[in-house]
Amino acid sequence: MNLHYRINRLTLSDFRNYSSLRIETSRPLVALTGQNGAGKTNVLEALSLLVPGRGLRGSAFNVIARLNGSGSWGVAADIETPEDEYKIGTSFEGDPTSEDGGNTGRNAMVDGEVQRSSGVLTNYLKMLWLTPAMDRLFAGPASDRRRFFDRLVAAFDAHHGARVSAFEKLMRERNFLLQDPRCDYTWLTSIERQMSEHAIAIASARNAAATTLQRHFAARAEASPFPWGILQLVGDIEQLSAHIPAVQAEEEYARILYDSRNVDRAQQRTLKGPHRTDFTVTHGPKNAPAELCSTGEQKALLIGLILAQARSVKELVGAAPILLLDEVAAHLDAFRRRGLFEALTELGVQAWMTGTDENLFSEAGVQSALYHVEHGSIVEVK
Ligand SMILES: Nc1ncnc2c1ncn2[C@@H]1O[C@H](COP(=O)(O)OP(=O)(O)O)[C@@H](O)[C@H]1O
Ligand SMILES: [Mg+2]
Repeated sequence: MNLHYRINRLTLSDFRNYSSLRIETSRPLVALTGQNGAGKTNVLEALSLLVPGRGLRGSAFNVIARLNGSGSWGVAADIETPEDEYKIGTSFEGDPTSEDGGNTGRNAMVDGEVQRSSGVLTNYLKMLWLTPAMDRLFAGPASDRRRFFDRLVAAFDAHHGARVSAFEKLMRERNFLLQDPRCDYTWLTSIERQMSEHAIAIASARNAAATTLQRHFAARAEASPFPWGILQLVGDIEQLSAHIPAVQAEEEYARILYDSRNVDRAQQRTLKGPHRTDFTVTHGPKNAPAELCSTGEQKALLIGLILAQARSVKELVGAAPILLLDEVAAHLDAFRRRGLFEALTELGVQAWMTGTDENLFSEAGVQSALYHVEHGSIVEVK
């Protein structure tokens, strides 16, 4: 049995600036170097599409298809998981004749068989990422923090992502019904019931993940160059779910929805629910809210948080998730870079990292692979 997740081979076709690309590696640390615009982040984005969702850029699928290509794209990988080895893949069939490029869902394949939806990918790989766009995670909108946190929860609980989507779909239906002058109240009540069942399941999965994450994030490791911190989930439904039995919490949220119909109708949205949950982070050593810390301190704290997430996943599922670290090394001095490589090695994760300069990875150790990206192709340097 493997005690890790690994991607040993990655192939792309008509993906962003790559017409075709193949990378084979069995190393735990993989560094991609090259100039700005070479296509480093594109490779990480392809990897991020090996789990459900829209990938680390959140792009529409038709935008990902290579310009002047067929309009379709594909990503495939040979992977090792704690269960077994698999060949997984995902592809998008574009339709250049339709106005939006045929921007519908993407397909998933496992061991040569087409799957019903890309949601099944959640059963194969666990993956977390850190990108420059997340530098404003602490100071930016709550929705970004929620998505970040839900990705961790999904790594614990394979059904979480599907539940969040189902809740949001029902909520849109409720908002729509509330605006309908001939609103069918029986139907509305039924939707609110279903919403509250999903809401409590979502909240209780978040609470469980938060408990583990809080413990790892607050652990003070003297040698670590990344600060510890305190994370607090802030959400009405999470509070409910933490304090009363699930059945009762479901009743309670259904009642809240019922009571807020008029307000929600006037506001044209649902004001209370797990879609409003946020979290706050305190920089431990400074005892200050994360959003008030310097850019550098926030970056270090974010890395501390990602490492705590990886440790949490490892504790709960027995193997550390794959990490995608986009342009992370460049922000760190030599001491912190070494600290990062050591932490990754100790965790036993596979980490895919990018940076413009090869020297950034000179201390990544013998267990690392180094690739140079240029003009839509990749060569192994080490
Ligand atoms: N759909 C696409 N088709 C072809 N090229 C694309 C597409 N989307 C982005 N690109 C190109 O990919 C490059 C950016 O790649 P990226 O991975 O972000 O670079 P970096 O190495 O700096 O991370 C840019 O040159 C951009 O024009
Ligand atoms: Mg980039």
